[in-house]
Amino acid sequence: MRQAAPVLLVNPGRRHPVVGGEVVGEVVGEAGPGVGPDESPAALHRRFPGYAPTRVVDAPGLAAELGLASLAVKDESERLGLPSFKILGASWAVYRLLVGRLGREPEWRDLDELRSELTPLGALTLVAATDGNHGRAVAHMARLLGYQARIFVPAGTAAARIDAIESEGAPVTVVDGTYDDAVRASAELAADDVLVVSDTSWEGYTEVPRTVIEGYATIFAEVDEQLATAPPDVVVVPMGVGALAAAVVRHYADHATVIVVEPLSAACGLHSAAAGFPVEVPGPHDSIMAGLNCGMVSIIAWPVVSAGVDVFVAVDDDAAEQAMRDLAQIGVVAGETGAAALAGLRAAVAAGTADVRGRNVLVLCTEGATDPLAYERIVGPHP
Ligand SMILES: Cc1ncc(COP(=O)(O)O)c(C=O)c1O
Repeated sequence: MRQAAPVLLVNPGRRHPVVGGEVVGEVVGEAGPGVGPDESPAALHRRFPGYAPTRVVDAPGLAAELGLASLAVKDESERLGLPSFKILGASWAVYRLLVGRLGREPEWRDLDELRSELTPLGALTLVAATDGNHGRAVAHMARLLGYQARIFVPAGTAAARIDAIESEGAPVTVVDGTYDDAVRASAELAADDVLVVSDTSWEGYTEVPRTVIEGYATIFAEVDEQLATAPPDVVVVPMGVGALAAAVVRHYADHATVIVVEPLSAACGLHSAAAGFPVEVPGPHDSIMAGLNCGMVSIIAWPVVSAGVDVFVAVDDDAAEQAMRDLAQIGVVAGETGAAALAGLRAAVAAGTADVRGRNVLVLCTEGATDPLAYERIVGPHP
């Protein structure tokens, strides 16, 4: 579905933690279970084969066009061998889940040693629902650790995204419904030897998605070093269920403006912020920004997101396509979802409501060309 005008909401629920130098609210939230003093998501990720910080691309031309002091694009098109940031949350969540089952911190230097440490757990199957990237990441983790995986996707998922999950050795079930229906189908399989690894949460299922949010912190640990001399004072992030947005809020909300971006047809964050409580946006959710086609916010992300996000922006598919082309101009290969944040930034600048002019802006480009045919149609040949 295509609609014309972007929609923008200045969050009435934004709770700035610092007023007149006094801390008046806790935006950051609890660290959650699993983070011991010696272990952090970044420490885990650094131990994975092929770990390297993703790059930050400076975009002075776009910054000038949009009236910003600077524009930095964090390029998550290649992360630990996969085309999106999602492996950061999936890997940390799977790891903490397994360590919890093991009942002690395993000692390992490489994946062979980790697999051997995990032998007492026996055969396991990891299950996830996904619009593409999270499920692929869970399937990838299962393959690395020698487990089975089973992944559920909503109807209409691009063939290339299904193929990519299957290339990790995981069977894919296409659910006749939305992403939220796929989540429900995956949750039903939970059993002693079947572990549900969801990036969203619901009543009674919060621990794993909390660790997913923690896992994303690696992005910001890297940015802290990469932009040490000019830290961002505006951060723009795409939002599906809000797990990534919650991670952004935790890291940035007490010193930066946080803008989240959703598709017009699945703007569950914007509608929930307007209502003051989580609101389900009914499907079909058919935006090309597939990773953001979620009708319901994650219940553990929502308190963090609703207190720490400054502006919710909803954009249409044309805006995402334009942003993909903009990013290609600066050498960033972005998928439809990956480009959403830049689309939202443009909309925020055009609306003039969000105070972004003259500021240092960080845009999270969260995926590469996960549907190469779509990329060719929208941008041109895939490099
Ligand atoms: C590429 C990409 N960016 C952003 C998001 C949104 O993340 P979240 O669902 O945590 O809001 C997703 C979710 O699938 C995604 O795949």
